[in-house]
Amino acid sequence: MTDDLSPIERAKCVAARRSCDFVESGMRVGLGSGSTAEWMVRRLGERVRDEGLDFVGVPTSNRTAKLAREVGIRVSTLDEVKWLDITIDGADEFDGAFNLIKGGGGAALHEKIVATASDRMVVIADAAKDVKALGAFPLPVEIIPFGWETTRALVEELLGDMDVLGREAELRMRGEEPFVSDEGNYFLDLRLHRIGNPRQLSLMLNQIPGVVENGLFIGICDTVVVGFGNGKVEVRKLDAGTAGEAAPEGGAVRNIFADSGE
Ligand code: 5RP
Repeated sequence: MTDDLSPIERAKCVAARRSCDFVESGMRVGLGSGSTAEWMVRRLGERVRDEGLDFVGVPTSNRTAKLAREVGIRVSTLDEVKWLDITIDGADEFDGAFNLIKGGGGAALHEKIVATASDRMVVIADAAKDVKALGAFPLPVEIIPFGWETTRALVEELLGDMDVLGREAELRMRGEEPFVSDEGNYFLDLRLHRIGNPRQLSLMLNQIPGVVENGLFIGICDTVVVGFGNGKVEVRKLDAGTAGEAAPEGGAVRNIFADSGE
């Protein structure tokens, strides 16, 4: 069924389809956003229709919510279900410790809230997103429109003190207008090239008053399902390693929010 797809779309499709095996009836499932996540939502819709899979989905964007309803998934909100068994989502980059850059599609705030409220987060990605160090993909930072130029100046000043290779923060545009998130916010895309200390950068960015959230997901993801252009799929687990492969460096998941209790 993936014969007509380009290698990159095939990689996304097979990873997304494989990740749906983690979903069982009775679960509360966070549904990510983006083109890879759309394959996952469609496959879950097939399972609802063909197998009677019965679960509740919590979408991370208006777009995902619309698609989920269209394919027959029962949709709820995080406020209603409060905690989730699993979230499945795409990513723009992941490293060996399963730290992520997300938000290329503009939904990282809801995605981070939903993933953090989940027992586990499974990322689905094509192999090109596997990086040694995060940062080649511009880091999205969601900011309040009020005083955004001041926020940008503060972000660029902060970057001068961080372990990164760039300090340019560009306002994301859609045509002539700033891109606006589902929450009505703007985005800065930070061209950092290499992020030496993602945890520190994430914590520091979120100290700036106009910053709502940044696209670094630190210690949240525990499993990555990687798709390849030839249709091969690899399931990598942070604690258990990957069948036939060395375990990624970085040890067990250590959620960044654990820091607040230390
Ligand atoms: C949206 C995201 C996406 O998961 C990320 O941008 C990957 O997108 P795609 O699957 O289309 O490559 O974080 O906010």
